[in-house]
Amino acid sequence: MSVVEPFDVVDLIRSKRDGGALDSPEIAWLIDAYTRGYVAEEQMAAMAMAIFLNGMTRSEIRDLTMAMIASGDTMNFDTLGKRTTDKHSTGGVGDKITLPLTPLVASFGVAVPQLSGRGLGHTGGTLDKLESIAGWRASISPAEMRAQLADVGAVVCAAGSGLAPADGKLYALRDITGTVEAIPLIASSIMSKKIAEGTSALVLDVKFGSGAFLQDIERSRELASTMVALGTDAGVATTAFLTNMNVPLGRAIGNANEVRESLEVLAGGGPTDVVELTVTFAREMLALVGQTDVDVAPALQDGRAMDTWRRMIAAQGGDPDAALPVPRETSTVTADRDGVVVEQRALPFGIAAWRLGAGRARKQDPVAHAAGIDLHAKPGDIVTKGQPLFTLNTDEPERFARALEALDGAYRIGAHGDAVIDGGPLVAGRID
Ligand code: URA
Repeated sequence: MSVVEPFDVVDLIRSKRDGGALDSPEIAWLIDAYTRGYVAEEQMAAMAMAIFLNGMTRSEIRDLTMAMIASGDTMNFDTLGKRTTDKHSTGGVGDKITLPLTPLVASFGVAVPQLSGRGLGHTGGTLDKLESIAGWRASISPAEMRAQLADVGAVVCAAGSGLAPADGKLYALRDITGTVEAIPLIASSIMSKKIAEGTSALVLDVKFGSGAFLQDIERSRELASTMVALGTDAGVATTAFLTNMNVPLGRAIGNANEVRESLEVLAGGGPTDVVELTVTFAREMLALVGQTDVDVAPALQDGRAMDTWRRMIAAQGGDPDAALPVPRETSTVTADRDGVVVEQRALPFGIAAWRLGAGRARKQDPVAHAAGIDLHAKPGDIVTKGQPLFTLNTDEPERFARALEALDGAYRIGAHGDAVIDGGPLVAGRID
């Protein structure tokens, strides 16, 4: 007996194309029918473009998020005996905050179920960075994840394909149809995975600026407030920060070198911008689960966060004492005059690191763990002629030329007193 479908997808596409709003049963059916293959890829592509062009109401976005959650498994940590709290970043150049943040927060007795992804294009992926550590496994079973959360409190691992599978399918389609940058689609994509993950609290790091997914701060604000509303409606205590991604974060862009920099932060040092975001998010993640006004910085100084890091790495097969990979070839660019670094644009530095082998152009490509860029000077630093500005790292020297091409015009040394162009403060806003 054939099943009679309750809607005609072409009607729904027409309705969205003409600026209408879809109701809850229509959206639930659309996502379910797409997940089981009844709605064809080309039909969903047309729908994604109609959404891109015409937007969605808040209730449509909520329905879309809920439908994507319902397409797969959900996790539940209610009986873990610890509160769960997590962070998600929309991604940027040199963004390694998850690495020091997860063990830091877990060292306060809460659980951080951090499901992460791999890098694509110029923004790096947390799993790629951690895979620089010998033996470390990104894939663990739900039972292993639960046991590690109960014991260590900190887990960073790959999201299984069972979580919001409709999003996996739709994201791949958006990637090849020019429909990635639609706020309703980004918000529902991110929040469906985070809500399905079962965290009780969530801090969102929504980036703006040249190295971010959405460059314009007002669009980032809209994305942030859409996601905060989705989280709150689903019972997840959610706060968002708008953070500046005009300049690379920290001094390391790549994989192994970002782990090295994270270890500096866990040892009580590290670049001030990385420490500022780590501490800001840690405070908020703890406040959302009832630990208000906690002084988190001492846990970076006294070894508590480092201890949790070592246990977190070892629990997933990694050797926290293993030497990190080093590049076969390096090339250092020096200052051509005395002055002040007045500009250092995130996007070209991200592209250059990617071209050196730190990122991948296709999902199936491997990454070179030792590839990337080490920045020796940051905007505002005084430099003298001949002083190293940054070092390019790669295993394949033929990659230097294209990386340097990407960096043409990406940084500037000005005269003392010239304005530094960095797009303003690191944390530019908060939405809750
Ligand atoms: N990250 C996601 O998971 N989904 C998007 O749509 C964009 C960024």
